[in-house]
Amino acid sequence: MSPLLPSADVDLSKAWIQGCLDRDNCWNFVIELLPSSLSTTKTAPRVIGLVGAVRAPEIGYMFNIDYWGKGYATEALRAFMPLFFDHYSGGVNQRYEFAEAHTDPELLASHNVLEKAGFKLHERREKDFDNPVLGLRDTLVYRLYRPDAESGAREAGA
Ligand SMILES: CC(C)(COP(=O)(O)OP(=O)(O)OC[C@H]1O[C@@H](n2cnc3c(N)ncnc32)[C@H](O)[C@@H]1OP(=O)(O)O)[C@@H](O)C(=O)NCCC(=O)NCCS
Repeated sequence: MSPLLPSADVDLSKAWIQGCLDRDNCWNFVIELLPSSLSTTKTAPRVIGLVGAVRAPEIGYMFNIDYWGKGYATEALRAFMPLFFDHYSGGVNQRYEFAEAHTDPELLASHNVLEKAGFKLHERREKDFDNPVLGLRDTLVYRLYRPDAESGAREAGA
């Protein structure tokens, strides 16, 4: 789900990351793997991925491939969603009645993560995403409504 190809230019990559962090509607967290309490060697926590609001109310996540398939994305997303609804509750920040995630129809691992965190498939947008490798792709939009969402907003899909 990236509109860009990987870049070998470190400065351009840093500028792109900084641009993501500077957006008003961006609120991201790194995910650290803590050293095991059973480990005998002292190791520092390791950053293995990120989760957050990439463009609120859109959320997203990505992990280092060495750490896929261990349940970490599910654990991270379940931990993040209450924070999201608390952060975007209409005080300092705009209130959102739902969070949304956009995924490729073939990204089954991500669909599983979303469903396990309580998201439901909301709509399929046809050929609305230009993937630099795969070309025009459909997007599956998943939504999770805030626990205290007004029922009108939920029924209207707003
Ligand atoms: C998608 C991604 C976040 C998943 O992270 P993860 O830590 O491996 O996810 P989890 O282990 O919590 O759960 C993955 C689930 O998908 C399942 N799964 C993994 N690959 C699958 C596949 N090819 N087909 C079907 N199910 C698959 C796993 O079995 C697991 O479900 P289960 O717990 O019911 O067995 C990770 O692959 C990633 O970072 N990808 C690159 C970035 C990306 O795609 N981000 C999402 C953009 S929408």
